[in-house]
Amino acid sequence: MRVLLVGSGGREHALALGLAADPVVEHLVAAPGNPGIGAIAELREVVTTDPAAVAGLAVETAADLVVIGPEAPLVAGVADAVRAKGIACFGPSAAAARIEGSKSFAKEVMAAAGVPTARAYTCTDADQTARALDEFGPPYVVKDDGLAAGKGVVVTEDRAAALAHAAACGRVVVEEYLSGPEVSLFVVTDGQTALPLLPAQDFKRVGEGDVGPNTGGMGAYAPLPWAPPNLVDEVMTRVVHPTLAELRRRDTPFVGLLYVGLALTAAGPKVVEFNARFGDPETQAVLALLETPLAGLLHAAATGTLAGHPPLRWRPGAAVTVVVAAAGYPAAARTGDVITGADRPGIIHAGTARRASDGALVSAGGRVVCATAVGPDLAAARDAAYELVDGITLDGSQHRRDIALAAVRGQVTVPN
Ligand code: AMP
Ligand code: GLY
Repeated sequence: MRVLLVGSGGREHALALGLAADPVVEHLVAAPGNPGIGAIAELREVVTTDPAAVAGLAVETAADLVVIGPEAPLVAGVADAVRAKGIACFGPSAAAARIEGSKSFAKEVMAAAGVPTARAYTCTDADQTARALDEFGPPYVVKDDGLAAGKGVVVTEDRAAALAHAAACGRVVVEEYLSGPEVSLFVVTDGQTALPLLPAQDFKRVGEGDVGPNTGGMGAYAPLPWAPPNLVDEVMTRVVHPTLAELRRRDTPFVGLLYVGLALTAAGPKVVEFNARFGDPETQAVLALLETPLAGLLHAAATGTLAGHPPLRWRPGAAVTVVVAAAGYPAAARTGDVITGADRPGIIHAGTARRASDGALVSAGGRVVCATAVGPDLAAARDAAYELVDGITLDGSQHRRDIALAAVRGQVTVPN
């Protein structure tokens, strides 16, 4: 099988490692990729949000399967253009990707499908926003209606800050605050059959103890030792299957990775968000534990044959990934700093590049590398991940020291 992987971040490096390890993959191309991915794949330049360009590259590289990592190409219709060439594509159509691309569309689908989620209003002016904020009370949750790379959401006790964020965004979704630990559940689907991956937890805030602004994610671990044993079944029954059925009913079946972001509240699991692609950095932890060959799995989803796929197999133990971010992230990440220690197994490249003048590895994005390790239990995986982090040097870099710490200490509890 010849595979074209679209994207360039840590998630794509983790996907590339999984794809390259699958014996059915004879050739892997990544576009544009990054230096870490370049060690295991042929790199090609492409504008990832240009459907004709990506479809053209898929034809040129004789791809049997295209895997689209990030959301922006999906929302732009890249999967549609690839499928129009008769090439199997892991990733939803533009119409189905609206489940991530528009928060208000996601709410509409959930309402129609009876999926538990926060009560919400879509607001387009300050008066509507103020009324919605006052109905729900603090903490206030205000979400940009469009794509914002994980940074469009403000959760605050400060009413003026909530109003200011709404004004800056234009069209927003204001919703009820959901209290309880968060879970990221990834589901591989061909639109009908759906296979859940191990549940993971992400750390969205930049600072230790979950303080500071939201980021794309500062670290993750899987599985969740504290999760109720029926969690995955319950989410499949109450959330995933009704949502996939509603998308089929609208003639926009969802093929690819449905990312269900949940809060486990006292009233049960409720959807915080849907994404139309693998989460970053949760993928780095989840795929580190997947034993089932990845290309075969994604190809089965892309070709509507997931019902015949064998059950997923997982390594025992746990995985932890810790993001090393650039100075200034998330507000204004500094780039161009030299990175050392990033050539060891377990270091996943996110925002890295080769400096033109001398080929040195330098930072080229907010999240620079992810140190990923597995272990027989969560504590061991965590220790191994931090050992990798401690071997990296990057001037001004920041990382959280508390990834998976509360879970190791048995301090994560589900309200009831
Ligand atoms: P989203 O992009 O919708 O996932 O929001 C980013 C982050 O904001 C989530 O992972 C949560 O940590 C937080 N958040 C979003 N919606 C809510 C909510 N209704 N209640 C509490 N926290 C939320
Ligand atoms: N880690 C959160 C996301 O990928 O959206």
